[in-house]
Amino acid sequence: MSITKETELTGIKKASEAVACTLKEMSNYAQPGMTTKQLDDYGAKILSDFGAKSAPYMTYGFPGFTCISVNNEFCHGIPSSSSILKEGDLINIDVSAELDGFWSDNGSSFVLGEDINQHQKLVDASKQILHRAVYSIKGGCRVSDIGHLIETEAKKRGYKVIKNLTGHGTGRSLHEEPREIANYRDRLNTTRFRKNTVVAIETFISTISTYAETLNDGWTMVGNKGGFMAQHEHTIVVTDSTPIVLTEMNGIWN
Ligand code: CO
Ligand code: CO
Repeated sequence: MSITKETELTGIKKASEAVACTLKEMSNYAQPGMTTKQLDDYGAKILSDFGAKSAPYMTYGFPGFTCISVNNEFCHGIPSSSSILKEGDLINIDVSAELDGFWSDNGSSFVLGEDINQHQKLVDASKQILHRAVYSIKGGCRVSDIGHLIETEAKKRGYKVIKNLTGHGTGRSLHEEPREIANYRDRLNTTRFRKNTVVAIETFISTISTYAETLNDGWTMVGNKGGFMAQHEHTIVVTDSTPIVLTEMNGIWN
């Protein structure tokens, strides 16, 4: 969406506060021994307290309220009472929702407890790269240049990027124009970021895979070569200078 009046900015800020707060609270609540279903139920309650509706549940009929992906699962993991969290797991939670007609999206990967499986370096790389990408965006800047920046920063740190997962415009529905904000320089994409538009910027930084593939459950995505992936996502408003990070209170950069 393009923000043209104050009430729209207020609306998207409220929706963003709901998803950011839900993501933060869920990340703090996660404990070894808990199932991903319990974690999702906790998040669903927070969303509903805000009066917000889960976007994947509403829009795509996803069997859960938030996406919770563990270890070799890259994204769109289905919350399940048989998936039990363990110390050292690499967890990704993605929360997107609608509130009063406004849609916002954010996500974060983190290590549960002690980093016994050495995932923290990948997580930190993804966070730093998202930070660089977000603060390089302003009106007029090419979408493909941000993709190039993300891939270059990943390579520098010894990682790869997933080519078939992307950031996207958001605001009045979950996915809007620009439909694809890739993590590499897509030469066919001549789109530029436009001032006052709302976009969800996300990293997909991986250890060995370059594509994500859907499992037989129809939702969960894993790497074409296996390994691990970290994702961090903020919804922002593009400006002439520094973007407004609408989901900043999720605390992923703290
Ligand atoms: Co998301
Ligand atoms: Co997104």
